[in-house]
Amino acid sequence: MKLNELRTFLGRDWDETAAFIRSSLKSDIDLLNVTNEAILSNSGKQLRPILSLLIARACSGKGATMDSIRFAAASELLHNATLLHDDVADESKERRGMPTVMSLLGGPASVLIGDFWLVRAVDAILSADSGTGRVIRVFSKTLSDLAEGEMLQLQKAGTGDTDEADYYRIIYSKTASLFEAAAESAAISVGAGEEMLQAVRKYAVEIGLAFQIKDDMFDYSMTSDSIGKPVGIDLDEQKITMPLLGALASATPEEAREIRRKVASIHETPSYKDEIRSFVLEKDGLAYACRKMEGHVSDAVKAISVLPDSEERDYLVKIAEYIAVRNR
Ligand code: IPE
Ligand code: IPE
Ligand code: MG
Ligand code: MG
Repeated sequence: MKLNELRTFLGRDWDETAAFIRSSLKSDIDLLNVTNEAILSNSGKQLRPILSLLIARACSGKGATMDSIRFAAASELLHNATLLHDDVADESKERRGMPTVMSLLGGPASVLIGDFWLVRAVDAILSADSGTGRVIRVFSKTLSDLAEGEMLQLQKAGTGDTDEADYYRIIYSKTASLFEAAAESAAISVGAGEEMLQAVRKYAVEIGLAFQIKDDMFDYSMTSDSIGKPVGIDLDEQKITMPLLGALASATPEEAREIRRKVASIHETPSYKDEIRSFVLEKDGLAYACRKMEGHVSDAVKAISVLPDSEERDYLVKIAEYIAVRNR
């Protein structure tokens, strides 16, 4: 499945969402407009608003509302805000195959532009006809999750002691939480009942976890040319992600202690990085991560079995499957 097929399927709902995102970003500052235009013209997968619209339609049976469009737009505005901030945190030079805003204009500008996108996301929610307070609470929880997840990741860097529970807390907070908010706000926009609301939240959390596990696998298995952002950088930041956790799970306690010690002192001894990478590949850490990811994909698919039959629901199943096979 190609994501373009989904945009075509969403038709006018998609066009209105894209137009809403663009008009949300208007400013009388030229540098801001030029930069935003550059970001929009190389926009990435736009997975969150696509999901959001599909979920709104799958839950309503009657179609998306204007509020569905506002909330879908908000999820993508917020997502881009987090990337503008994340590239500063990760000192990352490339995103979507292009130089990052932070490498072109500097970290402070990237943070400020991120703030701008974030506030325009809030404005999009505030412009809704109903459910505003509820949806603001949904997204503010996500933002606090994001900050906590990134801080936990920082706290854990340098200790080498991240376990699977810590890892899940981090990836739920930094990635799955926003998928969950996109789904929940979509359900709210069409007045979905409690059962549907919980089903789509669960679906979104599971695909969010799968999505980040796949991203963390890319960091070990892809080249930066093929995914358009740097690879191999998670270890530089002392992030212990699922492929490494999988390798550690099949090592002896002594081996595992030694590898964790090396992660903790990778800055003093940069050659540890290659040793740890080889350890991950030898111990089949990628296959372990892949099995975990597939478990989340199948839980996601199960979660939405309570939704009524529809083309939208079929596409939600396809998106869950796409996440496992995507190569960027
Ligand atoms: C990147 O998200 C950040 C993660 C949560 C791994 P996407 O891979 O959805 O980024 P774009 O918007 O398609 O570039
Ligand atoms: C996800 O983590 C980032 C956000 C949730 C903003 P990563 O740091 O792994 O994302 P990429 O790899 O830079 O896209
Ligand atoms: Mg990053
Ligand atoms: Mg990554």
